[in-house]
Amino acid sequence: MHGRLEGKVVYITGAASGIGLACAQRFAEESAVVVGSDIQTNDRWSDLVGDDAPLFELDVRDETAQHEIVSRILAEYGRIDGVVTAAGVAGGGPVHALDIENWQLVQDINLTGTMLTAKAVLPTMMEQRSGSIVTVASIEGIEGCEGGSTYNASKGGVILLTKNLANDYGRLGIRANAICPGFIQTPMFEATVPLMGERADRIREQHKLGRWGEATEIAGAAYFLISEDSSFVTGVALPVDGGYTAGHWYGMTTLMGLE
Ligand SMILES: NC(=O)c1ccc[n+]([C@@H]2O[C@H](COP(=O)([O-])OP(=O)(O)OC[C@H]3O[C@@H](n4cnc5c(N)ncnc54)[C@H](O)[C@@H]3O)[C@@H](O)[C@H]2O)c1
Repeated sequence: MHGRLEGKVVYITGAASGIGLACAQRFAEESAVVVGSDIQTNDRWSDLVGDDAPLFELDVRDETAQHEIVSRILAEYGRIDGVVTAAGVAGGGPVHALDIENWQLVQDINLTGTMLTAKAVLPTMMEQRSGSIVTVASIEGIEGCEGGSTYNASKGGVILLTKNLANDYGRLGIRANAICPGFIQTPMFEATVPLMGERADRIREQHKLGRWGEATEIAGAAYFLISEDSSFVTGVALPVDGGYTAGHWYGMTTLMGLE
């Protein structure tokens, strides 16, 4: 079967788990050449994504390693059409109680790591005069939330970095867009949200569709932004959030008989 990304080379960071893994699977289904990287491995990667799809070990904070992976992709496949920067970590707390080392770690991985991936692929895309960079930010980079200081600052930075990429490289045919997921059921979600107890229900309710999201639903948006279907879309911070950022939900839909 010929998918709609046949002949395209797509590189994904944070590809061993969650959203990055779902993107890798979706792009493989669409017949793209898929290359992943992650600081951890995944024994099921070949089964899930394909025998011929490499999963390189990478810490996104390592600029030299970022460039080495791009060199390996170019040596093997000759081009890079799309990049999804899904590597990321959670972290936060109220500012007076923040641990500066944790603050710095989160900024280094989420924001600086994203910038370094873009920096590594841009010379290739500039030479090609084409490419699509999709960053994974968050709804928490758009609006604040209790206790989210560290993570939210990093994701707000990712959104503006992405808009700046769109400004700087659009004339060269390179697009850059940020996906802002709502709460998505991945290992990161499982490590944090259940700890919130019944308060997690209030967060779920703010998603106007009344449920958590799935990693495949973020992969669908990433597919759109990598593919030619989005050829005139750049500089966008796209919420994929079940309506979380559409407004506040107070339960009036119950009164109005809309449930
Ligand atoms: N799950 C959610 O609710 C949610 C919501 C909004 C945004 N996001 C963002 O989506 C992205 C993917 O998160 P996820 O939910 O799939 O979590 P996840 O933990 O399943 O996946 C994140 C991946 O990033 C990798 N990673 C972490 N540090 C790294 C480093 N230094 N170098 C390379 N790789 C590293 C991890 O090993 C992991 O495989 C993250 O950027 C996250 O902030 C997630």
